[in-house]
Amino acid sequence: MCHALDPGRAEFYELRMTLLYEGKAKRLWSTENPETVRMEFKNDATAFNGEKKASFENKGRLNNEISTLIYGMLENAGVSTHFVRKIDETNVEVKKVTILMVEVIVRNLSAGSYCKRTGIEEGRVFSQPVIEFSYKSDELGDPLINDDYIREMGLATPEDVAHLRKSALTINRILTDFFAKSGLRLVDFKIEFGRLVSNPSVIVLADEISPDGCRLWDLKTGEKMDKDRFRRDLGNFMEAYQEVLERLKANA
Ligand code: TMP
Ligand code: ASP
Repeated sequence: MCHALDPGRAEFYELRMTLLYEGKAKRLWSTENPETVRMEFKNDATAFNGEKKASFENKGRLNNEISTLIYGMLENAGVSTHFVRKIDETNVEVKKVTILMVEVIVRNLSAGSYCKRTGIEEGRVFSQPVIEFSYKSDELGDPLINDDYIREMGLATPEDVAHLRKSALTINRILTDFFAKSGLRLVDFKIEFGRLVSNPSVIVLADEISPDGCRLWDLKTGEKMDKDRFRRDLGNFMEAYQEVLERLKANA
């Protein structure tokens, strides 16, 4: 029997749409609207610039649910983002942007590459958030850069960088409080920004926000509830993401 396709479901788009981009954890598809794209969350997990790779059932769904919840909360708090709507379990519709090739990392406690670079032990609480920029290049392994590099590489103007810093600090304050309500400590996170294709003078928050790109520790026990479980082979990887989702849902 032939039946009408529901425009709210991904299959509707599948028939008409083309793959625009495939990254390590997501795919971008065109939609019928020239100003939006469909972002699909894959089940793949990678670490160490793609050297370590595996697939986990439900990962795409969990990250989509967590990211959607966070983007809705940020929009309500007045942050401009690419988010339009959730389509289904693993797909969202987002505004089409040109991603700035600068990743913004905010750290509240020492962890990860900060510890490696400085020799400082994990878990030191910073007096103020530490902001880092990295050049978004898989080929070069996303190297650390600074404001001068960004200007000279033509990645963004000094005014844009000032905007990125200010937005990142605002987002950090909102996210820190949001996660704390769920008993989670926001140790650090990476975010990306893009220029709206429909209005390139506007820079909005883009990409996902999930335990793939954040470090989240249980506030009471210090247990790691993020992608470090995969990076460091700590086990119970998806169980941790599920727990994050359940806590956020209960406290949102
Ligand atoms: P790092 O300590 O390894 O530099 O990571 C800082 C934060 O950025 C951490 O929350 C994980 C996130 N991150 C990404 O989202 N993508 C990456 O490619 C890397 C290296 C880190
Ligand atoms: N996302 C990066 C990769 O896939 C690195 C990381 O998150 O550790 O390799």
